[in-house]
Amino acid sequence: MILEIFLIIIVGLFVSYFIFLRIIRKLIPSPAPAFIGKILDSNLRRKIQSPEKVIQRSGIKKGMQVLEIGCGSGAFTTFVAQAVGPKGNVYALDIQQEMLQQLENKLSSPENKDITNIKLIESSAYDLPFDDKSIDLVFMVTVIGEIPDNDKALKEIKRVLKPGGILAITETFLDPDYLLKSTLKKKGEKAGFNLDKISGSFWHYTIRFN
Ligand SMILES: C[S@@+](CC[C@H](N)C(=O)[O-])C[C@H]1O[C@@H](n2cnc3c(N)ncnc32)[C@H](O)[C@@H]1O
Repeated sequence: MILEIFLIIIVGLFVSYFIFLRIIRKLIPSPAPAFIGKILDSNLRRKIQSPEKVIQRSGIKKGMQVLEIGCGSGAFTTFVAQAVGPKGNVYALDIQQEMLQQLENKLSSPENKDITNIKLIESSAYDLPFDDKSIDLVFMVTVIGEIPDNDKALKEIKRVLKPGGILAITETFLDPDYLLKSTLKKKGEKAGFNLDKISGSFWHYTIRFN
């Protein structure tokens, strides 16, 4: 009985904290703080959100030019670099230098010494430093909910994508900025994208547009 009450209190506290965090982030939108970089790029995260599965659902293939917007500390970036292979490139873009620094440190470790196809870019999703129609696939994981003006960002993404290019957005319910599939479908279609495929569950999904 005592154990049950204790568990109910713990779950109640967790749920209340999560709801509180969602409300605060809706009221005051801001990029995820850089100190969570270690949590984002952790083994536990990889168990919850397998990079291989996210990459496969996103449609990343060998030789692609991939732009990862909001790469953070690079939890997915090195996996994407391996998936595109030596003929492809990954442009890892983030608005926060502190996040890019964590990715740079990760890339300088011996286990990543063979990865040479990642370019780090400090910029905003509103202002992508790429030519029109130059990117095969834009990859975003738990980012879009943090960007206050989604319409503006989607317009800019559309500009840089090649004809037939892919926009792959992955969301997880554990993110306090999580957006529903139906919300993203509406936003994407409003920006002129065609829905290609939605894979995964309510808790964790990838939506792909072209
Ligand atoms: C929750 S983190 C996710 C990082 C990474 N995608 C992952 O899944 O581990 C969101 C990232 O998006 C970045 N971000 C937020 N707003 C952005 C914007 N307007 N343009 C580019 N990056 C942005 C943040 O700096 C942060 O690194």
